[in-house]
Amino acid sequence: MIVTADLAISLDGYVAGPGVAPDNPGGDGAEPLFEWIHGLASWRERQGMTGGEENRDSELMREWFDATGAVVMGRTMYDLGEEFWGDNPPFRTPVLVLTHRPRPTLVKEGGTTFTFVTDGIHDALDRARDAAGTRNVDIAGGASTVRQYLREGLVDELQLHVVPALIGAGLRLFDDVGAGRRDLEPVRVVDTPLATHLKYRFTK
Ligand SMILES: NC(=O)c1ccc[n+]([C@@H]2O[C@H](COP(=O)([O-])OP(=O)(O)OC[C@H]3O[C@@H](n4cnc5c(N)ncnc54)[C@H](OP(=O)(O)O)[C@@H]3O)[C@@H](O)[C@H]2O)c1
Repeated sequence: MIVTADLAISLDGYVAGPGVAPDNPGGDGAEPLFEWIHGLASWRERQGMTGGEENRDSELMREWFDATGAVVMGRTMYDLGEEFWGDNPPFRTPVLVLTHRPRPTLVKEGGTTFTFVTDGIHDALDRARDAAGTRNVDIAGGASTVRQYLREGLVDELQLHVVPALIGAGLRLFDDVGAGRRDLEPVRVVDTPLATHLKYRFTK
């Protein structure tokens, strides 16, 4: 069991554009971050859709689904995704949602539960670890949530799907992650026309 973080990022370091809103969940100009995912067979399968490309990108997405036993996310990501994910969300695992606004646990179809955690990042991670069994805990986003785990040194592996686009403004992943050097060892680079998938392991 390790703790992972896995995000799509623009070449200039943004994980969302500016102006994020319920009707604009990725922010302005952020289409390149997510549109490559929508054609992947493994992603479509998890959304209850058919078709799509069976390519290396799709394999990487399936690898993430298979390896992940619990997910931690911020309330903003949850609120933006809630309607889109519907009754059978793609996670199919327990999801711990960091929030200041308590809400009863939601049990969805397919094995996804959303539990709203108000006691902070350590409590959410402990609960996710208990739920994940031998599989990984993934810190899914958004930026604020991943930054908090990075700041505390709680992420073991970081995978970035670097899309070939500059967004120019928005939410940067690596702002405010605390001063001080942290070293990573490269685990893998997979380069496809859609994205350059970089996987790193933090060395302690
Ligand atoms: N590029 C990618 O792969 C990727 C992946 C995921 C998300 N995203 C994008 O990221 C954006 C959202 O990111 P974000 O940084 O704005 O928000 P976020 O991390 O999703 O959520 C932040 C919110 O979560 C709650 N929260 C976070 N830490 C907490 C703590 N320690 N204790 C209690 N509550 C806590 C707070 O909500 P309350 O105070 O309201 O309860 C806070 O305002 C979206 O635009 C989404 O599209 C991108």
